[in-house]
Amino acid sequence: MRLEGKVATVTGAGRGIGRACAIQFASEGAKVLVSDINKEEVEETAQIINELGGSSEFCICDTGNQKDCRNMVENAVASFGRLDIHLNNAAVLIVKKFLDFQIEDWNQVLRVNLTGFFLAGQAAARKMVELGNGGSIINMSSINAVLAIPDILPYVVSKGGVNQLTKVMALSLINDRIRVNGIGPGSIATDMVKQVMGTNSLREKILSRTPIGRLGHPDEVASLAVFLASEESSYITGETIYMDGGRMALNYTVPVET
Ligand SMILES: NC(=O)c1ccc[n+]([C@@H]2O[C@H](COP(=O)([O-])OP(=O)(O)OC[C@H]3O[C@@H](n4cnc5c(N)ncnc54)[C@H](O)[C@@H]3O)[C@@H](O)[C@H]2O)c1
Repeated sequence: MRLEGKVATVTGAGRGIGRACAIQFASEGAKVLVSDINKEEVEETAQIINELGGSSEFCICDTGNQKDCRNMVENAVASFGRLDIHLNNAAVLIVKKFLDFQIEDWNQVLRVNLTGFFLAGQAAARKMVELGNGGSIINMSSINAVLAIPDILPYVVSKGGVNQLTKVMALSLINDRIRVNGIGPGSIATDMVKQVMGTNSLREKILSRTPIGRLGHPDEVASLAVFLASEESSYITGETIYMDGGRMALNYTVPVET
C-alpha cells in the first residue's frame, strides 16, 4: 500500500473527483478526513470508505470560511493523530456570457475556487509544519488554467490563480519537506461537466477536441492524486500535471460520431 500510515484531508469530497480521490487514498492505506458543504453526500463518502475496510471521518467545511478550514485540519489530527496529505478540490462553476457576469458571480466563484484553496491549503500547511513530518499538498486545477472557455470567466481565472498558488506554496514550503503540486484535468465525467455539457451539440464540441474520444473518469484523476500524494513523486514539486486525453496536444478537431 502506497499511503500506509498516512493521514489525508480532502475538500469537496461529497461527490465526483473529490470522492474518487478520497476512496483511492483510503484504498492505498491512508486514513481520510473527508469534508464538503453537503453533509449527506460527504457522510456517504466516509461510509463508503469505511464499508470498503478503510478508515474515514467526515466534517462540514465551507472552504471559503477560514474557521471551517482550521476545524477540518484539527478534526483530522484529533481523529487520526497526524496530517500528511491535503487535497484542495472543492470548486464551483457559473456559466454566463462575459457581458452578463455580475460581481456577485465573480465573488462566489473566486471565494471557493481560489480563496478556498489558499485558506484550506494554508491551514493544512501550518499543521504539517507544526507536526514536522513533511507532506504533500495537491491543488485540483484544470486545463482551463491555461486554455479558456469564454462562458465560464471566473472559473477560468480562478484556475489560472491556482497554478500560481501551487508554485508559491511549493517554493515557500520546500524547506519543511512539504511538496505542492497541481492536477489539471480535461473533461471528466462528473456533475460539474454535465452542467457545462448540457446539450448534445456541446458534448460533440467537447469530444471533437478530445483525441482519446471519451471523457475521463474520476478514478483516473484519483490515480494521479495517489501518485502525487505518495513518495513515488518525491522529486516533483511546484508542478501542475495535465491529464486531458490529448486535448492540449491537439491543434485542430477530431471527428465525432453523432
Ligand atoms: N469535472 C471536470 O471535468 C473537471 C475538469 C477540470 C478540473 N476539475 C476540478 O476538479 C474539482 C472537482 O470537480 P468535480 O467535477 O468533481 O465537481 P463536482 O461539482 O462534482 O463536485 C464538487 C464538490 O465540491 C463541493 N463544494 C462546492 N462548494 C463548496 C465549498 N464552498 N466548500 C466545500 N465544498 C464545496 C460540492 O458540494 C461537491 O461535492 C474541482 O476543483 C474542479 O474545478 C473538474
